[in-house]
Amino acid sequence: MPADKGTVRIAFLGDINGAPGRMALDQQLPVLVERYAPDRIVANAENARAGSGLTPELHDQFRRMGIDALTLGDHAFRETKIIPLLDDPSKAVCRPANLSARTPGKRMVRIPADARCPRDVFVFTVLGRVHMGSPQANDPFECADQLLAAMPERHPIVLVEAHMEVTSEKAALAHHLDGRVAAVLGTHTHVPTADERILRGGTAFQTDVGMTGPHDSVIGRRTEAVLKHFTTGVHVPFDMGSGGEAVQGALVEVDLASGRARSIERIHLRAVVPQR
Ligand SMILES: [Fe+2]
Ligand SMILES: [Fe+2]
Repeated sequence: MPADKGTVRIAFLGDINGAPGRMALDQQLPVLVERYAPDRIVANAENARAGSGLTPELHDQFRRMGIDALTLGDHAFRETKIIPLLDDPSKAVCRPANLSARTPGKRMVRIPADARCPRDVFVFTVLGRVHMGSPQANDPFECADQLLAAMPERHPIVLVEAHMEVTSEKAALAHHLDGRVAAVLGTHTHVPTADERILRGGTAFQTDVGMTGPHDSVIGRRTEAVLKHFTTGVHVPFDMGSGGEAVQGALVEVDLASGRARSIERIHLRAVVPQR
């Protein structure tokens, strides 16, 4: 279905998780494009390299596949080779915005206007501060306020990723930004929530859009390894899970003039897994 005139359709995909997630993406991205006709595709890639971090090679691969911008979360610096790309203004990948001013990398990506979307689209991620590990994040509310205050245009089209553990922090951020951004979309738990909606001020919100990865697992990691840790307390490496691969995310349709959302829809595309 082609985009309604006057809107931009933005697909946002949950954390791409290791080789199973990349396989699902490779297989299902054409299906997604056919079914949802997105004008812009944004994906979180913090788990792309074997479950944590993003390499420059994987960045290039995702961009070649048609992903317009990549975001990261608390695993942003697990692969430090990504830092030169984070520092490069021409590369559409950013680290979480609410880290120290000394932290390398861009805090935001601007996807420039083109024939598919006549306005720039801005994307940034903020980390939560409740039940999150390292790196220690600054106030995500204040950080979002500061980035929005510095926007070069009056009604910018902005997608905010809430990379947070707890539902309350994500919902609070969405209400804080309601009417000022197109969407607040949650990530990090790797489990999608069934609460996608448009808030009163016109901001689309979903507590978590889920994961692009193997769902026959414990949030992406091999079930037996995680179970061993939980049942014995012995730390074992959490290698990647496999099975039940799917692409998950959300499709937000945004009014070009106002920068507010018209609709939000969950995306769940199950991969057809080859015989092992
Ligand atoms: Fe993740
Ligand atoms: Fe995360």
